[in-house]
Amino acid sequence: MPKTTITFVCRDCGGESLRWAGQCPHCRAWNTLEEFTVKPAAARHAGSNRPGERARPVPITEVEEDDEPRIRLAWDEINRVLGGGFVKGSLVLVGGEPGVGKSTLLMHAALQVTARHGTVLYASAEESARQVRMRAARLGALRPELLMLAENDVDAVIAAIEETRPALAVVDSIQTVYDASLDSAPGSVTQVREAAGRLMRTAKETGVPIVLVGHVTKDGAIAGPRVLEHMVDTVLYLEGERRLDFRILRATKNRFGATDEIGIFAMGDGGLHEVEDPSAVLLAEMSRAATGTAVVPILEGTRPLLVEIQSLLSSNEGALLRRTANGIDLNRVHMILAVVEKRGNINLAQKDVFVNVAGGIRITETAADLGLALTIASNLRNAPLPDGTVAIGELGLAGEVRRVAQMERRLSEAARRGFTRAIIPRGAGDGATGSMRTIEVRDLAEAIDSAFPAHIKSGVA
Ligand code: TYD
Ligand code: MG
Repeated sequence: MPKTTITFVCRDCGGESLRWAGQCPHCRAWNTLEEFTVKPAAARHAGSNRPGERARPVPITEVEEDDEPRIRLAWDEINRVLGGGFVKGSLVLVGGEPGVGKSTLLMHAALQVTARHGTVLYASAEESARQVRMRAARLGALRPELLMLAENDVDAVIAAIEETRPALAVVDSIQTVYDASLDSAPGSVTQVREAAGRLMRTAKETGVPIVLVGHVTKDGAIAGPRVLEHMVDTVLYLEGERRLDFRILRATKNRFGATDEIGIFAMGDGGLHEVEDPSAVLLAEMSRAATGTAVVPILEGTRPLLVEIQSLLSSNEGALLRRTANGIDLNRVHMILAVVEKRGNINLAQKDVFVNVAGGIRITETAADLGLALTIASNLRNAPLPDGTVAIGELGLAGEVRRVAQMERRLSEAARRGFTRAIIPRGAGDGATGSMRTIEVRDLAEAIDSAFPAHIKSGVA
C-alpha cells in the first residue's frame, strides 16, 4: 500500500514546502502554509488507469490533428484572450478580486454560448439560483438552455455535467465547492486542489470545457487561484478598479494560445460590454495636452493602445521623499527619475513625485519610459507637450533613448487617433505613415529639447 504523504502548500502562491513554517519560503507571506495530504497514487487513479487501456506510443505524424472547432463567443474580446474560443475538454480558471465582475463576465459568456452552441451549465455555490437569475435577467435575454445548479458538492456538479453534457460548464466559485470525502473545510488548499483535479478529469473525459471562478483575496483567508495555476490549461485574470469602468481580462497561462493578449470591457447598468476601440475611450477624457501628461502608444499583446501617463511634482522640504506610482512599476519609476535627474539635468531632490496611468491601465512595457520622463520635464517647465504629440522609447541608464519593438503599429495607432508628431528613438522612423511627423532623438536631453522648444521655455520664464 503506497504511503500517504503530507506536504504544506501556501494559500497565496501555491508553493510547496516539506515542513511547516510561519513564513512561506516562496512568496514570503506569513501564516499561509496549510497542510496538504497527497493521496496515495493507487487511490488517486482508481478507475482511470486500467491495465490494457494503457496508451501506446505512436509516430507524431499519425497523431490526429486538432481540427475541432472551438466554442466561440459573440465577443471577440473574450475569444482573443482564449486564443480563439473555448477548447473542448479544457479547464479554464478565471481569477479576480471579489466584486470585479467575474460572475457577470461568465454570465455574459454563458448566454452567448447558449445562443450558438446549446446548453450551458452554471453551477453556483456562491449565490442562490434566484440571485443568479436576477443577474442574468439584467444582462439580457433569459434562455432556457442556461441550466442553473445551486450546489456546492463537487460530486453533484460532476454528475450534472456528465448527465447534461453541456457545451460549457461554469463553476462559481471553486473555493465554495467541496469534496465530502475530505475532512478539510471548503476553501482550504486540500479542498480547492482536489475539487479542481476532479473537475479537470471530468473535462478531459467528457470533452466539456469547464470554467472555474477563483477569488483572489488580500487577506488570504481562502486558497487563492495561484494554488491551481499549474493544474489548469488556461489562467485568465479579470482586473480593474471597482470605481473605474474598465475591466481587463488578461491571460497569464494558455496551453491553447498566446498569453500576452488582453480583452477590454466596461461595466455599466446592463452588465459588461466589450470595448473594441479602447484608445478612443481612454483618450476621450483628455481634452488637450496638459502639463505633466504624455500620450504613449503601448502594446498589449497584438493590439496597440494609446494611454495617458500623468505625473505631478510637489515640493517637499522634509527628509522623506514620496514617490508613488499607479499603473506602472515603482522600481521602473525610480530608475527613470534617476536618469531624468542625472542625464536631463533636473533636480528632484526636494520633490515628491506622483505617477499615474489614466483609466486604470497597467503599463508593463519599457516603451513608455520616454513618455514618463517627458512628463517630469513638462512639470518642471510648467509647459505641456505640444498638442498632438506622442513619445515612444525605452530609456537606458546613460540617458540614451532605445528602440522598441513594433514601432510601425504604434505610430499608425497614434496617427489613426489624430496625433501628428512622434518623438522616437534615432533610426526608428521607417514605420512612419503619411500625416505623422517623426522626431528622432538620441538621448533624453535631445528629447527634452525637441519637446519643449526654446520659445516655450522663454514664454514661461
Ligand atoms: P460580480 O460579477 O458579482 O463580481 P464577482 O463575481 O467578481 O465577485 O460583479 C459585481 C459588481 O458588478 C457589483 O459591484 C455590481 C457591478 N455590476 C454592475 O455595475 N452592473 C451590472 O449590470 C452588474 C450585473 C453588476
Ligand atoms: Mg461572483
